[in-house]
Order: sequence, then C-alpha cells, then structure tokens
Amino acid sequence: MHRFTTIHAIRQHLASLRTANTVLGFVPTMGALHEGHLDLIRQARQACDLVVASIFVNPIQFNNPDDLARYPRTIEQDSEMLERVGTDVLFFPTAAEIYPEAPQLRFDFGDLETVLEGAFRPGHFNGVGVVVAKLFNIVQPDRAYFGQKDLQQVAVIRRLIRDLSFPVELVRCDTVREADGLAMSSRNRNLTPTERTQATAMYQALQLAQSRLSEGQSPAVVKGEILTFFEALPHFRLEYVEVVNADTLQAVSETQAPGQTAICMAAHLGKVRLIDNLVF
Ligand code: PAF
Repeated sequence: MHRFTTIHAIRQHLASLRTANTVLGFVPTMGALHEGHLDLIRQARQACDLVVASIFVNPIQFNNPDDLARYPRTIEQDSEMLERVGTDVLFFPTAAEIYPEAPQLRFDFGDLETVLEGAFRPGHFNGVGVVVAKLFNIVQPDRAYFGQKDLQQVAVIRRLIRDLSFPVELVRCDTVREADGLAMSSRNRNLTPTERTQATAMYQALQLAQSRLSEGQSPAVVKGEILTFFEALPHFRLEYVEVVNADTLQAVSETQAPGQTAICMAAHLGKVRLIDNLVF
C-alpha cells in the first residue's frame, strides 16, 4: 500500500497508474476504522481496479469542539487494517494540507440539511460537502463508497455529485452491525462497558418501529411508541426519531414504496452521540 500526505504526491502517483480503462474506487473515512469501513474497502476491491482510502478528521464538519477533541485517532492501526484488506493507496493529509486557509465556500443543501442531523448539527453538512468535493477533485474516483449508517450523508453526497456533475458513481453499502445489533461506529469505542451493553436498545427501538410500521401503524403512532420506549431508559437522551422517505429524508405520514421508508434516530448515551437507521 502506498501512503501519501500531500495533494501533489497522491495526484502524481494516481496519474502514473491511471489508464483509460482503470476503474478507481474511493473510500473516504475519518479513521478509527472498524468492520464497517473494511466492508466498504472490500466492496470497492471487488468492483474496482484501484482502491484508494483517505483518513482525515475533518475539523469543519464538527459543530461540537469536544466531539472533535474526543474523536479517536488510530492511524497506525488503521493503516495496517487498510493494507490487510487490499487497499492500494492511502491518503492521510494534515488539516493544513487540506485547508491552507479557512474555506469561504459554503454549500446549502436546501431541505436536505434542515432535518434530522442537519437540524441538530448546524454546518455539519457544509463541512462534509466541502471536504468530499475536495477529496473527489484530488482522487478523481469513478466510484465512491459510503455506509448507509449515515443515510443523510449519502443523500447529501448524491446531491453534491448531481449538482456539481462529478463523474462519480455513489455506492451505498449496508450498515454493518455488532452481534447484538449495535451499528458499528468509530464513536462506539468511547462508550463505557455499561453503556456499550445499554447501546443495543437503539437497534431494538428501530426493530420495534419497523415491525409496528409493517403492521400498518402510522408513523405518528410509531414515533409516540418509540418516545415511550426511551422514556423507560433514562440513561438515553433521545434527540430525534423520524419516519422519512429514504431518498429525500423528509418526514412522511405513511409508509413509502418498498425500500423507500427509513426510520432514523439519534440519541445521547453518556458522552457519546449515537445515530442509526433502518431502511425497508
Ligand atoms: O463519514 C465520514 O467518515 C465523513 O463524514 C467523511 C465522508 C469521510 C467526510 O469527512
């Protein structure tokens, strides 16, 4: 695996490898890698000639300075994991390399960023949009892989690709879960052992919501049931639960066509903010 920290060096390297037929797969990450990330790499490895991963803890997408400070940084371990699953190139720039000066450009993703995560994390999706646009320009991938766990991020990137005509195919990959259902996340390692056991309630709540919606209950009734579910779990502070259209992320009053309904939630457990969703 080749490792680069500067834009100039990775551009030169990729230019020397790329031919007219090379399919380049790209997996952008913020490091602290887990099986979910490795699954993205494996999927890229199967479908592409060249697999590039990036690790960059993007400061401008954190609206909470404590969250940025606490974000786990495990570059040595990450680098070994990426090499083991067949990554060809790793890009891990410094913040000064990506932002020699504070970016003035601002993205407005309209309705997509006023709901769910966008409503609770002002500026977050602008930060994601800026860094992903930069990384796309640097790496110039043919395909880019993102996890469904960040469903709203997938929708934002889809909008970015369409509105800016990036010649990139977006690949949404299923959420990878622990044996007890907890969605894998870099932030899970900040849970205490007790919180880690309690955290599985997020998935139980999602499953409950899915089965009630499938039985024909309305989103409004199901949301009420989920609020009651979390009231019995005082260690959780539920931020939101919404039943939405899986592409537009807008709240719906009835279930959508197959594969188009998503239940999304976010909750604080101790110092960790967890998000998860089910699409059905
Ligand atoms: O999903 C993430 O890890 C980040 O939001 C991303 C896409 C790498 C942008 O910083």
